[in-house]
Amino acid sequence: MPTQSSVSKSKSKPVQQKSGELDAIALLTQDHENVKALFEQYEGLGERAFVAKKKLAMQICTELIKHATAEEELFYPAVHNASSEAEDLVDEALVEHAAAKDLIAQILSMDAQDELYDAKIKVLSEQIEHHIGEEESELFPKARKAKLDLLAIGKAIALRKEEISVPSPQSLS
Ligand SMILES: [Fe+2]
Ligand SMILES: [Fe+2]
Repeated sequence: MPTQSSVSKSKSKPVQQKSGELDAIALLTQDHENVKALFEQYEGLGERAFVAKKKLAMQICTELIKHATAEEELFYPAVHNASSEAEDLVDEALVEHAAAKDLIAQILSMDAQDELYDAKIKVLSEQIEHHIGEEESELFPKARKAKLDLLAIGKAIALRKEEISVPSPQSLS
């Protein structure tokens, strides 16, 4: 068992907290950071590192599907019901999710050698960056104001994410 001090020395793991203990906004924000880091890793891979590219792309797509599904089933409806101000933002977010899922389905059905593979990952990363920016700057502040039980929603999101497995391209259409 590591002692508290040995844990706190680890710089790569800033928060020693299970995701089930985070409130919904903290958990979703942590997911955002994780997926941004994965896109950065992809950028750093060599042009012909096809196996690594495919593996990382699968990981990115899986993380995004888990995150988006949990948001759509648990977070967005709660915010939509609790805040009339957030309705348009939730609608916009759902349209952005649909566009991202379409691109994810294409990526999952491609080989890393395919000519447009890197371009699709790049466009996905740009779309996700834009979407994350809107959630964090507009939707999350409204959710905080709406007096939701964010801890309970966070627990439900963490559980739901564990249930969702690697998507197949067909499951996204
Ligand atoms: Fe989202
Ligand atoms: Fe999100």
